[in-house]
Amino acid sequence: MKIRPATRSDAAALGEAHAAAFDAPWPSDEILRFAEGPGGFALAAEIEGALAGFILCRVVAGEAEVLTLAVRPGDRRKGAASALLVEAAALASLRAQSLFLEVAADNDGAIALYRGAGFRTVGRRAGYYVRPGAPAIDALVMRRVLNT
Ligand SMILES: CC(C)(COP(=O)(O)OP(=O)(O)OC[C@H]1O[C@@H](n2cnc3c(N)ncnc32)[C@H](O)[C@@H]1OP(=O)(O)O)[C@@H](O)C(=O)NCCC(=O)NCCS
Repeated sequence: MKIRPATRSDAAALGEAHAAAFDAPWPSDEILRFAEGPGGFALAAEIEGALAGFILCRVVAGEAEVLTLAVRPGDRRKGAASALLVEAAALASLRAQSLFLEVAADNDGAIALYRGAGFRTVGRRAGYYVRPGAPAIDALVMRRVLNT
């Protein structure tokens, strides 16, 4: 497992990893636009030389946020997301006191991952995730304190 900055040459693989993980995929150019925008950074996890997943974060005014985190289905439960979170927290801690994220309240796997990585629930946004043909799902707002 190798964690490294995601680059333009990863564009296609980033888009594919996101599309395999979410119902509403983000185009790769949008992922790169956030990564290259103010306060943004993206890290890639490589397994055996191929992109297994990535994390996209943004730091604004002393607070960092995970914008998205995705691991390819065939590469899950190998520690890629945990390793991405460790590295992202280390980078964010240079410029931020806290790392926030939002996660669907029914995403038990991701919630377990985040709890294990030191995040705690600090809020709830009612009906945040709107899904066609299904009831809207609340978002949990989770925070990890950095520099401790
Ligand atoms: C959530 C996701 C990023 C986890 O990636 P991953 O690389 O498989 O996670 P890790 O291997 O680092 O898991 C670390 C720990 O988190 C917990 N965990 C991760 N996925 C889990 C799952 N599906 N069910 C229960 N616990 C889970 C476990 O405690 C795991 O440790 P273990 O494997 O030793 O039991 C991945 O499943 C994914 O891309 N899902 C779809 C997109 C998504 O939900 N992203 C997050 C939304 S905010």
